[in-house]
Amino acid sequence: MSLLPQETLSELSERAQTCTACALSQTRTKVVFGSGSPTASLVVLGEGPGAKEDEQGLPFIGRSGNLLQELLLEELGLARDEIYITNMVKCRPPENRNPAPEELDACRPFLLGQLKALNPVVIVTLGNFATKTMLDTKHGITTLRGKTYPSTLCDAPVVPTFHPAAALRGGRDKIVAMREDLFLVKGLLEKAGR
Ligand code: URA
Repeated sequence: MSLLPQETLSELSERAQTCTACALSQTRTKVVFGSGSPTASLVVLGEGPGAKEDEQGLPFIGRSGNLLQELLLEELGLARDEIYITNMVKCRPPENRNPAPEELDACRPFLLGQLKALNPVVIVTLGNFATKTMLDTKHGITTLRGKTYPSTLCDAPVVPTFHPAAALRGGRDKIVAMREDLFLVKGLLEKAGR
């Protein structure tokens, strides 16, 4: 049982700005804590910031972010500022490599704090890395997507889908699959009356 009071998203974000808990803090330009509504029912979770995100301090602002926004709007009727978008790690891994286990461990308290503060109805994980980490599984996204899973970190169910960057490379089939996965999310949100 934690004796610490729950921090708000802005308190957590403020603390993250000066975090030096792992080596990514030495190479980052900006901390990419997360963005969106503090009352969001849907949390979208990526892997880690890329170059553009590192420059601007905001998650998913490149081409893959545009595709993500388009799909969320078309399938769920939700704009970027009505959901909450963040990543497993809040600082860019150099050369966009996967975050290392010690970097994930160092950043986990921020993700846990975000999920606790938001208490979402559903979490969408984007791509292999975020999905495998959240579900603690070795199975890949192609096998896992299309279904709902319990989260290892909070009460909200997890709906895994392709990373929009993979969908941009992989063409129509992956985009169709992402739309199907978001249809699952729609059902969960509706069931919760959101
Ligand atoms: N890819 C991610 O996983 N996260 C971002 O914020 C941008 C690209």
